[in-house]
Amino acid sequence: MIRVCAIVARAKNGVIGQNNQLPWHLPSDLRYFKAQTFGKPVIMGRKTFESIGRPLPGRTNVVITRQPQWQSPGVKVATSVEHALQIAKAQAELDGADAVMFIGGAEIYRAAAPYLDRWYVTEVQLEPTGDATIPAVDASLFDEVTTEVGQTQPGEPDHTFRVFDRR
Ligand SMILES: NC(=O)c1ccc[n+]([C@@H]2O[C@H](COP(=O)([O-])OP(=O)(O)OC[C@H]3O[C@@H](n4cnc5c(N)ncnc54)[C@H](OP(=O)(O)O)[C@@H]3O)[C@@H](O)[C@H]2O)c1
Repeated sequence: MIRVCAIVARAKNGVIGQNNQLPWHLPSDLRYFKAQTFGKPVIMGRKTFESIGRPLPGRTNVVITRQPQWQSPGVKVATSVEHALQIAKAQAELDGADAVMFIGGAEIYRAAAPYLDRWYVTEVQLEPTGDATIPAVDASLFDEVTTEVGQTQPGEPDHTFRVFDRR
């Protein structure tokens, strides 16, 4: 079975982005993100793709857009969350990957929520200003299965890596 996952870093107040960027600099979370997504198809909204600015290496990149003509080198284009899942799961089968990963942003996390088996949430102990937010994982549907306190370097915010599985 191919597990459908989302991975997000979320502040205590629900903020995940500001001006199409991450509101913090947290290398420990970038390493965690790479470790969890490497070798797996990643699915993202067009705005998140443009914020990253290039395809993520070592992963099939699937970008969701409503613009029929939109394309970009090195990425597969999907017109809906369901279409993206179809492309990503087929690629995971080919690659022998056990999961596909929704990597944001806010609009895509909301649209993907009904399909998710697992959430990877980095809880960042900040309350920044932001224009992209998501709600907390629905505790009536998901159980927290692992919790790991992140190693903080000087100047970095405290953070915790939490994994939630659908009941
Ligand atoms: N903290 C984190 O872990 C994290 C992770 C990722 C992103 N972010 C942040 O999140 C923010 C971006 O989030 P966002 O909500 O503004 O944008 P987004 O979800 O990245 O992308 C939105 C775009 O995706 C397309 N789209 C969305 N739903 C669709 C659907 N159902 N069918 C077809 N296309 C659909 C549309 O593209 P078109 O307009 O081209 O039609 C839409 O404009 C940024 O600030 C970014 O830094 C944070």
